[in-house]
Amino acid sequence: MTESQAAKKPILLSGIQPSGHLALGNYVGAMRNWVNLQQDYLGIFIVVDLHAITVRQKPADLRKRCLSFAAQYLAAGIDPAENIIFIQSHVPQHAELSWVLNCYTYMGELNRMTQFKDKSQRHQDNINAGLYTYPALMAADILLYQADLVPVGADQKQHLELTRDIANRFNHTYSPTFKIPEPFIPQAGARIMSLQEPDKKMSKSDSNENNYIALLDPPDVLRRKIKRAVTDSAREITPESVNNAGIGNLLTIYSVLNDQTLAAVADQFAGQQYSVLKGELADSLVGFLEPFQQRYDQIMGEQGYLSSILDEGAQRARYMASRTLSKVYRKIGFVAPGRNR
Ligand code: TRP
Repeated sequence: MTESQAAKKPILLSGIQPSGHLALGNYVGAMRNWVNLQQDYLGIFIVVDLHAITVRQKPADLRKRCLSFAAQYLAAGIDPAENIIFIQSHVPQHAELSWVLNCYTYMGELNRMTQFKDKSQRHQDNINAGLYTYPALMAADILLYQADLVPVGADQKQHLELTRDIANRFNHTYSPTFKIPEPFIPQAGARIMSLQEPDKKMSKSDSNENNYIALLDPPDVLRRKIKRAVTDSAREITPESVNNAGIGNLLTIYSVLNDQTLAAVADQFAGQQYSVLKGELADSLVGFLEPFQQRYDQIMGEQGYLSSILDEGAQRARYMASRTLSKVYRKIGFVAPGRNR
């Protein structure tokens, strides 16, 4: 696809931090929607490694995870010929615009960000300035590409609202420069919760690996995690089970994997023991993830192919990003380099 063909489609942009293990929650909450929306949008999918270092990472792990996450984007069905996939640090404009946006973001705004408050509580030994100004970097990710739509989970809505505020502030201070992005909230339903603590969402960076289903978990691990998932002391499924945190979550996962409504699934299993649902759910999960993992292994076995996709993605991204950044620099009053040559 040429730049001009691609330019006709509205832009969908999203990113995931290369920390932890991509989990079923990421697939259902994000990647699945990316795949479904790629017909109608030019997708820009970023492995946001600059964001990841706001929490200390082991260098070798970070390096591996960036490639692994990109390969999982592809294995999930993102078509690299139609979309742009890249690693954030390959495109220097993210760091450059984020500095500028830091100067258009108030500390009062950053102080209100709940993710900062949460993360600084969890990492008390490393409350660094990057963790604090992280929303300005996320705003840069989005605004550099004039994105139309940003699919976000509930936990990122606040950051997207701040992005819109920063963009409006800049546009009003100078002249229209940034497109104001819209949030994309996936259709109702399907929030995947932790397996052991079903009151909180399934997190790919949970310290307890029994809490999440990693997309790369081998079949025996998948079966074990489902078997151990928390339910309640009742043993049998009823139509009301959908309201129970633990068993409701398992029914939800089953419904997503089998493309059925939650109510239909609750009906189908009504009167059955929890163990029956767990057995069938484990089968569905293995059936769903096995082909995903085969595609993943194939992609990881062709590192040259993966690198060429990431290189091409970064090249296209740099082109788009540099156009926005030079506009920004000009409006602020920075002298253009080489202007007398
Ligand atoms: N902050 C997001 C998260 O933690 C990740 C992210 C970074 C992102 N840049 C983005 C998401 C741009 C959407 C768009 O989940």
